[in-house]
This record gives sequence, C-alpha cells and structure tokens, in this order.
Amino acid sequence: MTAQLSKKSEAWSARFSEPVSDLVKRYTASVFFDKRLAHVDIQGSLAHADMLAKQAIITSTDLADIQRGMAQIKSEIDAGQFEWLLDLEDVHLNIEKRLTELVGDAGKRLHTGRSRNDQVATDIRLWLRAAIDDILVLLRDLRVALVDLAEQHADTILPGFTHMQVAQPVTFGHHMLAYVEMFGRDAERMQDCRRRVNRLPLGAAALAGTTFPIDRELVARTLGFDEVCRNSLDAVSDRDFAIEFCAAAALVMTHVSRMSEELVIWMSPRVGFIDIADRFCTGSSIMPQKKNPDVPELARGKTGRVNGHLIALLTLMKGQPLAYNKDNQEDKEPLFDTADTVIDTLRIFADMARGITVKPEAMRAAALQGYATATDLADYLVKKGMAFRDAHEAVARAVRACDDAKCDLADLSLEQLRQFSTLIEADVFAVLTLEGSVAARDHIGGTAPAQVRRAIAQARLQLGPDPAHG
Ligand code: ARG
Repeated sequence: MTAQLSKKSEAWSARFSEPVSDLVKRYTASVFFDKRLAHVDIQGSLAHADMLAKQAIITSTDLADIQRGMAQIKSEIDAGQFEWLLDLEDVHLNIEKRLTELVGDAGKRLHTGRSRNDQVATDIRLWLRAAIDDILVLLRDLRVALVDLAEQHADTILPGFTHMQVAQPVTFGHHMLAYVEMFGRDAERMQDCRRRVNRLPLGAAALAGTTFPIDRELVARTLGFDEVCRNSLDAVSDRDFAIEFCAAAALVMTHVSRMSEELVIWMSPRVGFIDIADRFCTGSSIMPQKKNPDVPELARGKTGRVNGHLIALLTLMKGQPLAYNKDNQEDKEPLFDTADTVIDTLRIFADMARGITVKPEAMRAAALQGYATATDLADYLVKKGMAFRDAHEAVARAVRACDDAKCDLADLSLEQLRQFSTLIEADVFAVLTLEGSVAARDHIGGTAPAQVRRAIAQARLQLGPDPAHG
C-alpha cells in the first residue's frame, strides 16, 4: 500500500512539507462530534459507489469490494470497535481510510467524482431528514396526549387570563387545545422544512461539479431525496436548510416553554390548579416539604439553548463567500444539540401530559373570583337594547360595588343589580354563572364545551391513526 493516510499531513500528501501541530490538529478536527454521521456517511458512499459502477466509472468488482468493506465497517462501528483517529480529522476520512485498509484499491476509488464538500452536505441532510421524521412522530404523540386531556376536561372551568388578570372563564379543554394548535403548526413547519432538506448535494463535488459522467438523479432516488440541488456552488455551501430547521425547532421550544410556564404557575401551591406526577418532579435537599416541577422548568431553560443555536447558525452563515468554507464544519454541534434537545423535550412532555392531575375545584374557585362573568353581564345588557359602551360602564359600576361589598356579581340580589340598570331582570343569573358564560361562546374557536368537543373530533381526524399501530 502506498502512503498511509495515518498522518493528517499525508492525507493531502505531496503538497505539504511539514505536518500540522497537535494543536492545529485538535482545532481543525471534527471526528469526535461528526462520527455521529457515520451511518449516513456509509449510506451516501454506497449510493455513490453504486452509481459509479452503473456508469462504468468503477468496476462491479470494485463495487462489491466497497460494499463488503462498508458492511464490515458498519459492524465495527455498531460494536463500538471502530478506532476513530483524530489524525484523520473527520468521519469521512476515518471511514475511507479504514475501507482502504480492508479492501485495498477499490477503497481508493470510492472518492472518484466526489469531494468531502458535497459528501458532508449530503450526510447532514440525510441525518436531519431522519431527525425531522422523529420529531414529527413526537409532535403527533404530544398532541394526542393533549387532546386526550382536553377531552377529559371539556367541561372543566378555570379562569382565562389576560395580563395575568382574571379575564373570562374558559374550559380547560379549550386551553389545552390552544397548545394542540401551536404544536400542529410546528409540525406543518417541520414538514415544510423537510421538503427543502430533502435535496441531494452529491455530484456538486468540491464546488463546480465533476468531469465524470455521473448520474445524480439515480443517487437521489437511491437515497430517497425528492430532487437534486440545482447549483453545485450553492449545494456545497449553503446551510439554510439547517438554519430553517433550527428556527422551526426554536418555535417548538417556545411553545413548550410557554406551556411550561403555565404548568409551573398552576402547580404552585398558591394556585393549585394541577398536580404533576412525582416522577417528573424532584425534592429539595434542604426543604423536606418541596416538590418542584423540574421538568417544565428545565424545558423552559433549554429553550434558551435552542434559540442560541439558531443565532449561532445564522451568524455562521452570514458573510461566507461562495462556495464551501471550513466555517461550515461548525454547523454540526448546534444542529445535533438542537435536534437532541427537541426530541428529548417532546418525548418527556408527552409523558408528562399523561401525568397531569387536574383539580377542577381549585380552578372553579379561582374562576369565581375576579368577576370573570362581567363581560357576560355587559353582553346581556346589549341584548336588552343598551349600547355596548354604556353597558360596559354600567357593569364597571356594579363591579366596583362588589369590590366594596367583597362579593361576586352573582351574589348581588336582583334588586341590587337593578340599581345599575333597570334592563336587568331575573334571567340575568343564568348569564352570571360560569357554566352559562362558557356555554354561550358557542362558535368555531369558542370555549363552549360543545365547541371543544367538536374541535377535539376535528383534531383527532387531522392526527389520523397512530402510525405505530396501522
Ligand atoms: N469536516 C468537514 C465539515 O464538516 C468536511 C468537509 C471538509 N472539506 C474541506 N474541504 N475541508 O465541513
């Protein structure tokens, strides 16, 4: 065998007169994080080799050797026996070097018509496509868990808030369905992003394409890509698909974080709307009475980290001239960590949603404070002929009187209520109840239990059958 690829300086062989220092080697190497791409790297290489053979650029014997060598490498990696060498810089050179060790010259022919630039871009896209598919399954599962919770509590009433002040009563089912909508849009965004991820860079070679008679459409079909990237310079250099993914991921985490904030507040003993199963909480090392909602708190915290990765990738791309620059090696850690964080978070959230105990009495008691049905009284007066602004004023006076008397609107007698408007009659009490208030908001998107049940049916239809069970 000719010059071993064992020294990095020798990877590019004759052009260099001295080896890089150990520090530079460590600084420029990516193998300790990009070895995660090993499986997709092999997948991409096999598709490339298969095409080279079909196009008679390598022989069928070479192809068979490459396939045999790659099978062996895959099993070494899976068994944890593959020796990753810093000297070989990255996942691509490590695998290629081992292939050549195993099968000789065929291994050296694999890189014909290819560059690590189009190779790595292909690997990331394959890896990210699989991550998106995992995320889509998890987003669905979380929505199923939330729809189930909504169904159990289609009639449970809690105060709805604006500005964190009691606003109007809503049903807990309706509240959960708001998150189902958010995570549904997140899934749409992931699907849409996947279309742009799922395009093949291979064939772009270093930047300008290759002189060999390659068949890119064939490689795209073999690897399950929808299209080939249309411009070689763009194919090897832009990471907009990864940035887009991180943006979609940041929104997933933002929605998770908003929900986390609510769970934390709801679980506070001062509020006591819910309890979260013990397995998602921890105690305090000093305060024996504590049960802390660690999972939602941590999820809220991890949102910052994903947002950071989005900014990191945007900043990484900004200012890069065409075509490939080594800067792009820095795309991997933020991308991997974003996917890992979103995947772990969604998984734990779906589990946790199934471990939430709702406390309807506490919610009801809170909804009875804060004049949550004041708007209903104003609407009632409008229906009796008063202009809305006048009704608003009349009810404001009633609320003030209640404030002084430390009672609720529904506690006032008919006689007392009529001091604010003689339009008020005995039927007023139906609208002042929490049940009357929510039931009256009976239109698409409204909080009425009947609408919540309709929205649940619609959501279930949209979610479709469980992909794991037929
Ligand atoms: N490890 C590199 C990366 O992640 C692979 C591509 C390197 N190409 C190059 N010409 N240095 O981007």
